[in-house]
Order: sequence, then structure tokens, then C-alpha cells
Amino acid sequence: MREAEIRELPGLVGEQVRVSGWLYNARSSGKLRFLVVRDGSGYLQAVVFKTGVAEKVWAEAERVTQESSLCVMGTVKEEKRAPGGVELQVEDLEIVQLCPEYPITPKEHGPDFLLNNRHLWLRSKRQHAVMRVRNELTFGIRDFFYRRNYVQIDSPILTPSSSEGTATLFETDYFGEKAYLSQSGQLYLEPAAAAHGKVYCFGPTFRAEKSKTRRHLTEFWMVEPEIAWMRFEGLLDLAEEFVSELVARVLDRCKEDLERLEREVSALEPATRRPYPRIDYGDAVEKLKGRGFEVKFGDDFGGDEETALADESGKPIMITRYPAAIKAFYMEPDPNDPTRALAVDMIAPEGYGEIIGGSERIGSYELLEKRIAEHGLPRQAYEWYLDVRKYGGFPHAGFGMGIERVVTWLCGLSHLREAIPYPRMINRLYP
Ligand code: 4AD
Ligand code: MG
Repeated sequence: MREAEIRELPGLVGEQVRVSGWLYNARSSGKLRFLVVRDGSGYLQAVVFKTGVAEKVWAEAERVTQESSLCVMGTVKEEKRAPGGVELQVEDLEIVQLCPEYPITPKEHGPDFLLNNRHLWLRSKRQHAVMRVRNELTFGIRDFFYRRNYVQIDSPILTPSSSEGTATLFETDYFGEKAYLSQSGQLYLEPAAAAHGKVYCFGPTFRAEKSKTRRHLTEFWMVEPEIAWMRFEGLLDLAEEFVSELVARVLDRCKEDLERLEREVSALEPATRRPYPRIDYGDAVEKLKGRGFEVKFGDDFGGDEETALADESGKPIMITRYPAAIKAFYMEPDPNDPTRALAVDMIAPEGYGEIIGGSERIGSYELLEKRIAEHGLPRQAYEWYLDVRKYGGFPHAGFGMGIERVVTWLCGLSHLREAIPYPRMINRLYP
């Protein structure tokens, strides 16, 4: 008897198979018992006829509890009404481990309870669908860059310096010296761009965010491309091409998952089409004022402002040329107005907020030196970063995209905590 994954069963009608998995749920109807088995690849209706199996098999089918691990053996039958169009007519059943009362039941549970049981919650249908979308997205990201001849450069997690401001640094002791968990791999990519031209990193990043919002995690995954000789306009085009291609890929390959999540796919379709609206920071401020927001030129935008700006467009929007004073130290000034930075934020529609932040990088050694001082950063920790401008300086640009923000948007979730397998937040480190 061959071992089969549930996903393969539609192609095995009439064959005898053995499927290993967990009991998702069960119901009885007289002399029939319907066991829904899941194995990660799908859900299978396994039918036990009291009169068609040994007494012991029937007893096991009656005894088996939710989330017990088990193997079912039988013949694959066509059944139009069952998921996948097939069911299993059970001949034998083996309980591997009988599960005591499972904490997560079909009834409503609060978010804290579910997060405390995240290790089990991952088995639930919705969570399963979210992780599959995340998987498609992350593979799509690597594929996007691989097809364009980028080289993946893994950046370190333990670092001597900050890249995105000192307010959100996690500090740790490094054999008597201070070290910080990386907020971004960008600074390490810039030297690598001088070695390979087009590079990217993709890994966990850390921010000691003291705020409790639905958009912030303390540990999140970021993908960051960095491209030698690329200018600001080219960066905007790349960001747009990247996001539109990824959304199209997920819509194409995750239909079932999005359906399970009851995600309105028509809301995502505009994002597959380029171009995306581009709006100057100054115009964005005016637009917000027109909508009754109390903002003035020079303010950073919060979640509410981002939501209002993205409102009417079904596509992500790109806000460009922010005041240099509210952005990171490494951003190239706008040649037409040096108080502005060649910076971009991409804002997802439907109130999902910023998904991308990027910029052209400062080219001048002297200016970078000045900015490091202005931001109160310890110069000696950035000597190597200044070297990028000393030994063959070159124009370059890049951006970072937070994976969980994008998964949250694609899946239509209400909070980032469901977009990562094990969320880390201000008051959550368990499990
Ligand atoms: O805008 P940020 O801070 O940009 C950087 O880190 C640059 N060094 C990137 C680059 O140019 N290479 O972060 C980039 C993205 C944000 O747009 C957002 O999607 C995500 O990272 N992000 C977070 N996601 C979850 N939780 C948080 N606390 C996040 N902070 C940023
Ligand atoms: Mg940002």
C-alpha cells in the first residue's frame, strides 16, 4: 500500500493508500463515521462504514479525538461533494497518539489565548492559509531577484551601530562591548553593491517599538534590494514593478488560500497594474489638510494619515521627497531642494499602511560625515560605511519591504501578529 499525501489523492482514484495526519474533526451518522483528516497538504474526508470494517477499527474511529495523530488506510473514491473531489473509504485505522482535550475548539477564542497557543494555532485553517501566502510571497521575492541577476548578500544581525535611529535599538552585551540587533541590513548591502552591482538581503530585523499598534512587531522580516548606479526615478520604477509582480503571483497561485481567508481579490487586482500614483510629500500634506487633518509641512505621517492618503486609490501610492529632517541620516538630498530627501514610502491601499521605505543614498563623503555627526552617531562605528564613499564612490539606491505588512494586506488581516509564525511584540515573547 502506498503512502500518499492528501494533495495527491485526486490522481489516485481507485487505488489503495495510506495517509498519515491529524484528525481535524469528526461526525457520525448512524453506521457511518466521517473523519476529516489533515496532513498539511490538504483535508481529506475519510469514511468508516461500521459494517465494512473490523470491530476494532470501528472502535478506534469512535474513540479518536480532535488533533490525534493517526494513519488511515483505504481506497480512494470519487466524491464530488468532498473537498478535492475525492474521499477515502477506510479499511484500517491506526491511532498514533490519542490527543487529550485540544485547547483550540471551533468556538470563539480571544486573541491572547490564541497567541499563547500559537504553536497549536498554526494548525488552524486560516493560519495555515496565511502561512502559505507568506511562503508564496517570500519565494516570489527570491525568484524576482534571481531572474534579474541580483546576488543575495546576508547581512549580520549583531551589529555595532544603528541604521534607523537609536530610539528603537535592542541592545545586548557582546563580550563586554555594546552590540545591537540589526534594524536593517542596508548599510551592509551598500559595500556589497560595489562588489556585485545588484544585491539584496532578506532576513529578520529588530525594532524595540514601544508602541502597541497593529502594524508593529519587534521582530519582522525585511527584504532589501540595493543597486549600484541606480537613481531615485529608477528606484520608484523598481518598487512598483516588484510589488505589482508579487501581488499578481500571489493572486495567481494562492487562490484557494485567499478564498479560505475570505479575501476580496478584486480589491487586490488594481495593484497588479502599473503605474502606481506618485505624490510629492508637500502635496500629500495639502491633501491631508483638505481632509481636516491637523498636519503641517515637516510632520511625519502616522497610520491615520497613511490610511487617508491611500483611501481613494485601489493601488498602492508612493509618497516622495520627504523633508530630510524626518528621515534617516543616509538619504541623498534632493538636488532641487536640499531640505528634502530623495526618499519614498509606498503605502498599501485599504488602510494597510507603509509597506516600503527607500531612498537614494548619500554619495558625498563629506556630507555623510556631517550627517553622522548631526544625528549624534558615534563616528568610529561608521568608518567602514564611510569607506563606500572613499574607495570608488558611486550613486546607489535601495528600499526595504516589510514582509508581514504585505502578508497582512494580501490576506486582509486586522493585525500583523497573524502574518508571522511566532510574533514578537512589546508584551509577547512566548511561545
Ligand atoms: O522604512 P524602514 O524603517 O526602512 C529601512 O529600514 C531602510 N533601511 C530600508 C532600505 O532602504 N533598505 O523599514 C522598511 C519597511 C517598512 O516600510 C515596513 O514595511 C517595515 O519595513 N517595517 C516594519 N514592519 C513591522 N514592524 C515594524 N516595527 C516595522 N518597521 C518597519
Ligand atoms: Mg519607513
